[in-house]
Amino acid sequence: MAGLLGIEELTRAEVEAILHRARYFQPLQSQAFKKLDTLRGKMIVNLFFEASTRTRTSFEIAAKRLGADAVSITASGSSVSKGESLVDTLNTLAAMRPDAIVMRHSASGAPHFLARHLAIPIVNAGDGTHEHPTQALLDALTILDHRPALEGLRVAIIGDIAHSRVARSNVHLLSKFGVDIVLCGPATLLPPELTQIAPGVTLATDIREAIREADVIMMLRVQLERMHDPPLSAGEYFQFYGLRLEHMALAKPDAIVMHPGPINRGRELSSEVADFQRSVILNQVENGVAVRMAVLERIVGEHANGFAAH
Ligand code: NCD
Repeated sequence: MAGLLGIEELTRAEVEAILHRARYFQPLQSQAFKKLDTLRGKMIVNLFFEASTRTRTSFEIAAKRLGADAVSITASGSSVSKGESLVDTLNTLAAMRPDAIVMRHSASGAPHFLARHLAIPIVNAGDGTHEHPTQALLDALTILDHRPALEGLRVAIIGDIAHSRVARSNVHLLSKFGVDIVLCGPATLLPPELTQIAPGVTLATDIREAIREADVIMMLRVQLERMHDPPLSAGEYFQFYGLRLEHMALAKPDAIVMHPGPINRGRELSSEVADFQRSVILNQVENGVAVRMAVLERIVGEHANGFAAH
């Protein structure tokens, strides 16, 4: 069954179709009555083996706004903590006949593995350091709220690139549209293989160089939970890679600041930048619901056509 495992497998036309549909759902988010009945009678299970505030809530709200029922399970409260294997847990949930399972797992490739074993669509809500497809889609939607097109933009992605599924999915998505992407961070957190994805992807260790003339500055969290030995202390990190207001003068005058959240003020960015009028961090969160509605509708809706590449 066709779920959504990553941006890498999607065609540019599929990305455009989701963004188009998400744009249709955007105004609904601020209406007094927010519920449609497109997915009435459908059931979505959210299974999260890693911490999440935004993504899990957003998938649940998206399902409910489409009229579906949604159940969210976290690993700590499930039988996973009693030693059940991943396949057994998923098969147990699948036996209750949900229409899709949205999952987050610390192992890269976990949803891909399960998609091969289960006859139910799986939506990847973040797998290890690999992909986080709906995050890249909501990021693209947010950029398009501020720019007429993605083509020709310069996007700086700054921080712990090596451990970031957000960076990887964004590189895949933005490079399908010929965006100039500069990946910036300490050399040890900057995997050179990402430049192989597209000719427009370059690396920089100097934040000033990365930000120069950028249309979009996308900051990332330092994923300490995925590191044995952080290369810099919090203070050093902020000194070299923290985004401060004075950096903004190097970017385009109307450049926007993004962050997938959760943010660490004083580590990745200063509080002034986080609350700056061109910071769109909460707009990203808002767009997450519209994008996930578009994705869920495409996967489990009446005219579901899934994704061709799977
Ligand atoms: C990100 C994630 O989990 O990959 N958060 C999110 O989904 N908004 C980024 C992060 O945890 O730093």
